Amino acid sequence: MDLKNQVAIVTGGGSGIGRATAIAFARAGASVVIANRNVERGEEVARLICSTSGRAIFVKTNVAQASEVEAAVDRAVREFGRLDIAFNNAGIDGSHLPLAEQSETDVTALLDVNVKGVWLCMKYEIGQMLKNGGGAIVNNSSIFGLNGYPTWSVYTATKHAVTGMTKAAALEYAQQKIRINAVGPGPIETPLLEVGTGGNPHSYAGFVPMGRIGQPEEVANAVVWLCSSAASFVTGHTLPVDGGVCAQ
Ligand SMILES: NC(=O)c1ccc[n+]([C@@H]2O[C@H](COP(=O)([O-])OP(=O)(O)OC[C@H]3O[C@@H](n4cnc5c(N)ncnc54)[C@H](O)[C@@H]3O)[C@@H](O)[C@H]2O)c1
Repeated sequence: MDLKNQVAIVTGGGSGIGRATAIAFARAGASVVIANRNVERGEEVARLICSTSGRAIFVKTNVAQASEVEAAVDRAVREFGRLDIAFNNAGIDGSHLPLAEQSETDVTALLDVNVKGVWLCMKYEIGQMLKNGGGAIVNNSSIFGLNGYPTWSVYTATKHAVTGMTKAAALEYAQQKIRINAVGPGPIETPLLEVGTGGNPHSYAGFVPMGRIGQPEEVANAVVWLCSSAASFVTGHTLPVDGGVCAQ
């Protein structure tokens, strides 16, 4: 899967699935903009890519702030000349509680980052891709964007929003050569799952038909494929990368 001469942006590229995907994009030949809220982690990934002969920059970005998302897209174009690929991955999981015990503060944060953040990213990325004559966007949904799970109600709502926004946007831009898809990861060994499971991410292996949780690189491979010309007729799809969870 060749992404040579292409320019990619990865939100939340400082850790977990975003980090693995930023590295995979660079290995496939793309220049990568890492847009992350956490400076230390984002800079570390950019340095790592540059130290292995890749091209990457870090831009401090909160995806819930329009001006910061717009600035990250502008910086990609200033630095590398265009924008071809985007992985809208930044997300949070909130508190794992029954719906009636969720707080308004948590719900607002989840909607701001997971829904408004993906919308803002697509808004500015699409604006730029229309100038280029096309592009490929992948949003990070979840198996929770396809199914429901107890104690994850609000997170599940945000990920269903990502799945739905992906479908509608794909239809809006299909004729302008912008493909828009999503991935639906199952439990993946990242800091988010580590915290969400109280330090034991492998406790989720029992929910997975394959009997194990996934690795960030296994999601990254699917994202690279969706962004590559190998997926040229795929749009509007949410691809589960879940060891079989959604097949049950
Ligand atoms: N790990 C899993 O099991 C799993 C499963 C399904 C979906 N996901 C989704 O994958 C995505 C990445 O999760 P992960 O597991 O790699 O988590 P992670 O916590 O390792 O990485 C998330 C990254 O996003 C960044 N981030 C958070 N809020 C941000 C904001 N407002 N603006 C910019 N950056 C921000 C964080 O700094 C971090 O670098 C999320 O959208 C998550 O919902 C994860």
